[in-house]
Formats: sequence, C-alpha cells, structure tokens
Amino acid sequence: MGNGVMPMQICVVHGSPRRGNTWQALTLVRRELLQLGAVEFTEYQVPNDMAAYCCGCYACFERGEQYCPAAAEMQPIGASMLAADAVILTSPAYVIGPSAAMKNFLDHTACLFMAHRPEPRLFGKPALVLSTAAGYGARQANAVMARCLRHWGASVIAQASIRIYAADWSQMPARKQQRLGRRLRRDARRLYAAAARPPSLTMFGRGLFVLMRSMMKSYPDGHMDKEYWRRQGWLPPVQGGSQT
Ligand SMILES: Cc1cc2nc3c(=O)[nH]c(=O)nc-3n(C[C@H](O)[C@H](O)[C@H](O)COP(=O)(O)O)c2cc1C
Repeated sequence: MGNGVMPMQICVVHGSPRRGNTWQALTLVRRELLQLGAVEFTEYQVPNDMAAYCCGCYACFERGEQYCPAAAEMQPIGASMLAADAVILTSPAYVIGPSAAMKNFLDHTACLFMAHRPEPRLFGKPALVLSTAAGYGARQANAVMARCLRHWGASVIAQASIRIYAADWSQMPARKQQRLGRRLRRDARRLYAAAARPPSLTMFGRGLFVLMRSMMKSYPDGHMDKEYWRRQGWLPPVQGGSQT
C-alpha cells in the first residue's frame, strides 16, 4: 500500500487505444497522483490488451474463470486490479455509453459480481471512473463502469464526466481547460486519500452482500457460486461434513 515505504499501486484500464481527450484527462489525473506521493501505475488499454469478445459460453460461470477462452488476456488485468490499492477505468463516450472495448472488458468480469463469486480483495477498493464526450454521453458511460465496480464491491470515489464541446481537448477555451484541470486534480486527491486508508465495504456493498448471501443459501449444495461463498467462510459449512 502507499504507506511511504511501498509505492501506491494503481491499476488503470483505458477504454480506448487512442491518445485523445480521455487520455489527456487521464494524464492530468496521473500527474496529480504522482505529485501526491510515490505511485506506480499498471496500465492496460482495451481492446489492445483485451481483444477477445465474451462469446457467452458460460465457462466462467459454470466451470471457473480459468476456463474462459479469453483467460490468457483477462487474468493479468484481473491480477493487477486485485493487487492494486486503487483502480481507474476510463472510456470515451460512444453512442451514449462506454466504448465496446470497455464494455467487453466489463463483460469478462461477470463472475466478480456480488451475485456470483465476488473477490474480497476488491471490497472497498477505491475507484475512479473517467469519460469524455463531444457533448452528451460521458455520464452514461461512467454510470456503466461505476455500476460494475459497485457490484464487485469496490468503492467509487469519483466520476469525472467531461463534455468537450470542441474538436478536441486543445481546442477548448483555456479557462475551461483550467477548470477541468482543477476538477480532475481534486478527483485524483480524493482517490489518493481513499487509497491510503484501509479499504472497507461501502453501505451499498454491504447491503448487496447480505442480499446475495441469502440468495446463495437458496442454491442447491454443490452449486459453484454457493460452494465459493462457503469456502470464503460467508456461509455455514455443510452439516455433518465438509464439501469441496
Ligand atoms: C463511435 C463513436 C461514437 C461516439 N458517440 C458519442 C456520443 O454518443 N456522444 C458524444 O457526445 N460524443 C460521442 N463521440 C465523440 C467522443 O465521445 C468524444 O470525441 C470523446 O472525447 C473522444 O475521446 P477520445 O479522444 O479519448 O477518443 C463518439 C465518437 C465515436 C468515435
């Protein structure tokens, strides 16, 4: 953790291969984080680092994430997110939502949802989502990314939704660039402060956890998700013996 001894680890998944407006906004966030202390970034760009589409084979749900045909691409990103002190997801707004590449990445995290096999190392993990749109759609793109993070049990600290209203970042009026810079620096500071604290499940995460635990109880013994919850110690052991 970023405790003055070890650098703070931040995992970034950038929802576009472009070095465009979203990248520019991310650069301002990154720069501020580096001003605040020792920070290391592990960065992925989709679709470059996660090209295979979810084919809906259900292998992850029914057999395990390691059986996903895209596991070789997904596992390093997943491992980085688990190891990080904070996560940043970014996307340009495409047709009033996130890019297909970001959505595809999120599809590959379905098993991490509280309704399946949530990962306790993501519980309370601070996250920032960031989106830019020419005009309308950044909030909607952020909403999709934030919703997934919350369903993993992560804590969405800030949602930066930026309307460019210009050909690109450099064409925005200087005053607007300064205002956005201040806003992004503030979000970066909030993320940094949250990542420096021990993570704790949000109220939403706790509520969802309780709800899903009661759903898991209704599943038959041997169900993959239920047995996972049991192995985590979140459900009582099987009466009269242990279950694998
Ligand atoms: C396929 C596509 C769809 C887009 N859809 C929207 C949209 O729904 N709303 C909007 O305001 N801008 C839309 N845009 C514009 C981008 O969101 C905007 O220019 C953004 O800042 C680009 O980010 P980037 O430079 O990081 O790629 C779209 C652009 C593309 C290429």
